[in-house]
Amino acid sequence: MARYAHIKDSVALITLTNPPVNALSAAVRHGITESVTRALRDPTVKAVVLCGENGKFCGGADIREFAGPMTGPAFVPMLDDIEAGDKPVVAAIEGMALGGGLELALCCHYRIAHSKARLGLPEVTLGLLPAAGGTQRLPRLIGIPASLELITTGRHISAQEALKLGIVDQVTDKNACEVAVEFAQRVMDKPLESRRVSQQTVQCPPDLEALLENTMVQVKKRARGAIAPVACVKAVRAAATLPYKQGMERERDMMGTLFNSGQARALQYFFFAQRAVGKWSLPSGACWNNTKPKPVHRAAVIGLGTMGRGITVSLVAAGVSVVAVEVGEKQLQAGKQMVMAILERQAQKKGVAAPLDLLRFSNNLKDIGGVDLVIEAVFEDMALKKQIFKELSSVCKIDTLLCTNTSGLDIDVLASITGRPQQVVGMHFFAPAHMMKLLEVVHGRHSSPEAVATAMSLGKKMGKVSVAVGNCPGFVGNRMLMPYVEQANFLLEEGATPEQVDQALEEFGFAMGVFRMSDLSGLDVGWRVRKEAGLTGPSVAATESPRKRQGRRYGPIADLICEQGRLGQKTGCGWYLYDRPGGREAKPDPWIRRFLEEYRTKHGLKARAIDKQEILDRCLFSLINEGFRALEDGIAAGPEDVDVIYVFGYSWPRHMGGPMFYAGMVGLARVLERLEHYHQAHPDVPSLQPSTLLRRLVASGSPPVQQWRGFIKRMRSQL
Ligand code: NAI
Repeated sequence: MARYAHIKDSVALITLTNPPVNALSAAVRHGITESVTRALRDPTVKAVVLCGENGKFCGGADIREFAGPMTGPAFVPMLDDIEAGDKPVVAAIEGMALGGGLELALCCHYRIAHSKARLGLPEVTLGLLPAAGGTQRLPRLIGIPASLELITTGRHISAQEALKLGIVDQVTDKNACEVAVEFAQRVMDKPLESRRVSQQTVQCPPDLEALLENTMVQVKKRARGAIAPVACVKAVRAAATLPYKQGMERERDMMGTLFNSGQARALQYFFFAQRAVGKWSLPSGACWNNTKPKPVHRAAVIGLGTMGRGITVSLVAAGVSVVAVEVGEKQLQAGKQMVMAILERQAQKKGVAAPLDLLRFSNNLKDIGGVDLVIEAVFEDMALKKQIFKELSSVCKIDTLLCTNTSGLDIDVLASITGRPQQVVGMHFFAPAHMMKLLEVVHGRHSSPEAVATAMSLGKKMGKVSVAVGNCPGFVGNRMLMPYVEQANFLLEEGATPEQVDQALEEFGFAMGVFRMSDLSGLDVGWRVRKEAGLTGPSVAATESPRKRQGRRYGPIADLICEQGRLGQKTGCGWYLYDRPGGREAKPDPWIRRFLEEYRTKHGLKARAIDKQEILDRCLFSLINEGFRALEDGIAAGPEDVDVIYVFGYSWPRHMGGPMFYAGMVGLARVLERLEHYHQAHPDVPSLQPSTLLRRLVASGSPPVQQWRGFIKRMRSQL
């Protein structure tokens, strides 16, 4: 796991050999310890070079080892021994030095990096802190402000930035290992005192206290309840104010707390969940490793509204040439201007030219004949989409893939219009599509494995996390959102205010509560969906009770608000009040309070005090319950898929793992008991009725989330 070689002119070369990224497993630590001891003992060795096999220095700790008891040599004493040794050790950083890998490099006396190498301390993204001296050595090397930024964000930096900050001593375009060997020969007789980072004094800025306090405020705001970033600030404070040894003790104590916290478990689960969703499979057995995607060089986007613009930008940024089609000249020009402005802004940031030559605009659908793939993004109107799909199947070449960005309409209905249903899939992006990471790839009854593979692979090329989902109203994400929004509306009827509901959800960790989010997206979006579904509007019989639909409880408040022309931020008022149409700052609106009071009086409802726990239980557990139903129906392939969708598409706090992981963390029995309780209190709300899958999991002793896929498979095979 570490190869030792005594090479020319008194230099020993130690190579980490643990593919793919030379992670610091127990065996690797053992190998390093043995090799370093050997080099230090050998009188013919005067300097040591430490490098990694296959052009990768070290990707950090082996996360899989976190689950079991610690074995092998302890990391911190090993690093201390390397630093304290009396022979210079030079780290030759190729590929990456991340997490423990960078901590290993920091205990070396010199660091040489290849120009393409990436460095960073990403532990915070796994709910931890760099606990092998990273929080104590880095501030000594590069100062407090830069360390705070790197450690609290976990950002990876380039070799050039590392050189500028003082993390590395030299950057080279040549073989970093060979350069390091030559370097070692030059420094082998130089004194080492000043090269031992832990022995250096931290250069503190004069406004240290203010800096730490401001950073803490900002970090807490960004963290939305995550504890690791806060611990990182505290650890850097310890580096600034305490001697190295005491700082290390603080680092170790905080790591202990973080390591045993549910948040670290959630973040580590989420790390693997992101990888799991790439391994998609279809009910037919076709899957990611037996289906080849088709290359997509040319695409068309139909509709340049909110979504079409972002999709066009993402495609062009991924190097795909795009014909963007709009219906009228005015809309075309507006879309064109916006797309070009975003692309130019992005290019300016990167200091390159915008790839505008990949773009063409048209208001004639006939111009898209030669493309490999089309993404339709016109209004959410089935009749219009059907008409477009009919036209597409006559203008596009026979093997063009036809995709729709619908938020929840039936893919099979669209496919049936085309005469090539196997080439139709949903590509459901999230707004703004050039920034949001999530893509739901919706497979219909007839979608071919190749079509799914192509959409998944294109999503990846566009920088998205693509999740394959089945076809049902709302797919996975929006389907689960429906009961969540429904509960929030019922809570208003029963006595809560929008700000009270939002506060509870934002304290839980959502970037925005349900009502603020709805104001941002526009209240008319849901209104149109409810009208299409026959829940409101002229199709509802006048004799129907306003608070009942098909025998179920219905909350008409959102419809009534829309009827007042209150559509959210764009009209300057919705659930909240804004200073102007398009304003961003939400203020509680006395009009809403009055409206709610009058509404309750009209319907004979008595307002009651509703506490935070009830808000969370009803909103979150009804959403989770729908997640179990999506798993039960096979619409979502596994809990990881649901969780990735919720974290990337709906701002579910990542340190809570996603809704399905969270259910396991809270305890499935508790989720079941609460749902039963609320369903008993509201028997006319079917979404509160616990799903069969949840009941069966609880009956089987609530196995951990990692075992649910197998459990569901067995459950299905017994049907
Ligand atoms: P939008 O109203 O902003 O844009 C729709 C565009 O389609 C308009 O510019 C319109 O002129 C154009 N259009 C209409 N008929 C056309 C035709 N025959 N040919 C070419 N262009 C035509 O709508 P938005 O928000 O972009 O939504 C588009 C689709 O994306 C909908 O299906 C929606 O459900 C879905 N979606 C929307 C999200 C959102 O947050 N806005 C999120 C995810 C999906």
